[in-house]
Amino acid sequence: MSNNTEYGKQSFEKYCEEAFGIKNVFEKPEAFKGYRVLSCTQYILGPAAASYFAELGAEVIKIELPKAGEPMRHTTPFNEPYLYPLSRWYPDKGTGLGFFGANPNEYFVGLDFHKEEGKEIMLALAAKSDLMVENYRPGTFDRWGIGYRQLKEVNPKLVYLWAGGFGGFGPGRSRASYDILGQSQGGNFSITGQPADMHGHPSKHTIWLADYWGGMMGAIGALGALYWRNNKSGEGQMIEYSQVHGIQRQLEYSLPMWGKFGIVRQRWGNWDTELSIHGIVMCGKSSYPDSDNPQEQEEGFILISAHKDADFARLAELMNRTDLLDDYASHSARVSPEGQKYLYSEIAKWAADKTKEEAAEILHSHGINCQPVCNSKEVVENPHWQKRGAITWIDDPSFGDVLTQGAFVHMSDTPPRVKWALKPVGADNHYIYQKLLGFDDGKITDYEDKGII
Ligand SMILES: CC(C)(COP(=O)(O)OP(=O)(O)OC[C@H]1O[C@@H](n2cnc3c(N)ncnc32)[C@H](O)[C@@H]1OP(=O)(O)O)[C@@H](O)C(=O)NCCC(=O)NCCS
Repeated sequence: MSNNTEYGKQSFEKYCEEAFGIKNVFEKPEAFKGYRVLSCTQYILGPAAASYFAELGAEVIKIELPKAGEPMRHTTPFNEPYLYPLSRWYPDKGTGLGFFGANPNEYFVGLDFHKEEGKEIMLALAAKSDLMVENYRPGTFDRWGIGYRQLKEVNPKLVYLWAGGFGGFGPGRSRASYDILGQSQGGNFSITGQPADMHGHPSKHTIWLADYWGGMMGAIGALGALYWRNNKSGEGQMIEYSQVHGIQRQLEYSLPMWGKFGIVRQRWGNWDTELSIHGIVMCGKSSYPDSDNPQEQEEGFILISAHKDADFARLAELMNRTDLLDDYASHSARVSPEGQKYLYSEIAKWAADKTKEEAAEILHSHGINCQPVCNSKEVVENPHWQKRGAITWIDDPSFGDVLTQGAFVHMSDTPPRVKWALKPVGADNHYIYQKLLGFDDGKITDYEDKGII
């Protein structure tokens, strides 16, 4: 067995770079190679769940309403044809940017479930697949004759993930849901945003957290089901993921606090209810006063974390405000609402004549954890994340150079990877229907003309 000295011959950094660096990713095997996933998904929640399998090497077949495609293609901006022009059905329409990041590496086919042939094709595809993902209203696929119970008849090994709003049973089950609706009912918005006595309101997240997070939770459920199938039962099962439930799962101590003390958790804006100092402070100067972007012309912001007593003492010292230690040397004093209001306003006075970078330099040099609040340009230009492949240019077969997120995790032996960003609706009709169902070119063209695929 190797001892620490032998391990020490290679630094941990070097080990990580060799194991996880992006240079050799495409030479390594893929964890889910040989698995087939049907993604009958729309918007983000369902697509996100399926996309993790696609990045891990599964053959993910995205099934959409012929020609039109799923709504996410057309509901977000930048779907002008000159940006992403390749649809043979609607040459005047592109695919909106919201579709990006949620459907990489997938094969795209059309299939109309309202048509009898469409159902037969779906059953035939399900017979040859490992996992099916859908996120329609409760019972929609059952009504169409292709829900879990029907697909199980043709393939008992199939794992079926249904991601919905409120679940398939219970008095609130039948409503439609979107990310923000899920976050709202789940309790997330009520604890996000400035408190009422600071003229604040509940606030929504800019990103579709309930969708991307929810897709991941659903995918973890699917991994559990595949493990059970492969190692124990030999049979598939149905997974029911509720977007609202998923939000409640991450409410931290809000629920036990209500249960134990009857206290409804409050919003606390850019600060932290449990740690102080641990929040965002405005710096008085813009880093880019001459930028064309109005957001960049405004003052910068910096996240400062000095909640430990020793850190706070150093913070007070570097600000020439050791007087703050008279009353706020202890965390319990700092974390009180009054303490936070006072201290953050004093720190903002210190930062008033600085850019976020100038403030960061001083804080770093005194060993205080801090981070300027980055905009997306700064995120993209950061060489650290470029080197690690978190942000990457890909040579997309359909769209040419595309700047996109890289794979969602690094793995030493079977790393996930991004091969292409997306394709137009039905782009892989020939490839998939010939390969899996033996359709010839004539049949495919005929079915395309009839709007079946
Ligand atoms: C997203 C949502 C609100 C959309 O609601 P909706 O469009 O009213 O209803 P459904 O999702 O059940 O879609 C049904 C319709 O899809 C259309 N459709 C989509 N793909 C189709 C296909 N391949 N074949 C046939 N019909 C298709 C049909 O017009 C169908 O209408 P029908 O009832 O006449 O058969 C709803 O699906 C939902 O709540 N999903 C769960 C939560 C979720 O994932 N939300 C999105 C993430 S934010």
